[in-house]
Amino acid sequence: MKNKYIAKRYWKDSSSPMGAVNAKAKQYDDVINLSLGDPDLLTDKGVIEQAYKDTLAGHTKYTEFRGDPELRAEICKFYKDEYDMDVTDDEIIITAAGTLAMHLVMETILDDGDEVILQAPYFTPYPKQVEMSRGIPVELPTYEEEDFQVNVERLESLITERTKAVVLNTPSNPTGSCLTVETMEKIAAIAEKYDLLVVCDDIYTAFSYQNPFVPFASLPGMRERTIIINTVSKNFTMTGWRVGNIIAPADFIKVMTDVNMSVAFTVAAPTQRAALAAYRTYKDFQPAMVKEYKKRVFYAAERINALNNMHVLYPPKGAFYLFINIKDTGLTSMEVAEKILDEAHVLTLPGNAFGDCGEGFLRIACTCGCEELGKAFDRIGAMDLFNPNK
Ligand SMILES: Cc1ncc(COP(=O)(O)O)c(C=O)c1O
Repeated sequence: MKNKYIAKRYWKDSSSPMGAVNAKAKQYDDVINLSLGDPDLLTDKGVIEQAYKDTLAGHTKYTEFRGDPELRAEICKFYKDEYDMDVTDDEIIITAAGTLAMHLVMETILDDGDEVILQAPYFTPYPKQVEMSRGIPVELPTYEEEDFQVNVERLESLITERTKAVVLNTPSNPTGSCLTVETMEKIAAIAEKYDLLVVCDDIYTAFSYQNPFVPFASLPGMRERTIIINTVSKNFTMTGWRVGNIIAPADFIKVMTDVNMSVAFTVAAPTQRAALAAYRTYKDFQPAMVKEYKKRVFYAAERINALNNMHVLYPPKGAFYLFINIKDTGLTSMEVAEKILDEAHVLTLPGNAFGDCGEGFLRIACTCGCEELGKAFDRIGAMDLFNPNK
């Protein structure tokens, strides 16, 4: 888009494979949408009611710059209770969810031309978030044959004198994989050896189906070089409330607070109260929610593996996404996503939307119930390309 009034750095075409299939889906009125990472379940009623009460009681103003102090205290308590980690108050800032948190992190750590290694396939905004802070994103591919684990030799081969940080996301969007503690320990050794920061986008921690989630920051020596991003979006089914937080050594938090004052100033007070209520009561509502998503991903994975020309790693490990290998079709991710949309009216996302190494895959999000998922795979299974009886 060339418009002399718009900054030139935004002139380049920003259309994505994701945008293209989404636009095409509008042609059909019976589309089953498996593209959305937004949970269909609603926020717990008790959380909403408590936020309403607190708002009526006066939580309608700016909060402290680092966020509501009661919420910060509750997050410290959460880290102690869940992971036996000591987080002090000056190591936390409340942010307008995970997306803005990543922006604050990049603004805080990057000098012009610094490189950030991204565990790929990655959450689509990462490269742009690095570039907006004048950094250079570097894709670190992970592969299905390696269980989507980070291969540390590959990681090491990408490190240059400009490498500042590595971004990790486990459980992962889009692959649903979880880094093993062994992999994390190897990454920790590399971080130490090359004096790197590690940014952990810890968004799906509750959705870890095989082993309990272990924060990278809890590994020996990693606290001082790890920046943790959290959000209530997925773990507490609160995407629309826009509350997250960053945990990092106090020096980083000071700068992030300063940057945030020029970006968002503070997070909305009522939604911070909702987040507080969620941290206080999650044990009452989270287990049932996680159980439901687990049921869905296992069900969808079984349906996928019963079809021709597509398969997915089994059993699913985490998050509520499945990264489906469609290489046997001989077609590109985009071609398969379009074909499934046109013939089965099911919207999936082409894997290359998540980095080059996502080519040959489709991502689905199990953000609809088993009945709807069942309908989607009945339709896909009826396509010549995937029908197991053909
Ligand atoms: C890996 C990852 N990071 C960050 C986010 C952003 O979450 P938030 O809603 O907190 O901005 C998402 C949302 O889908 C995600 O999948």
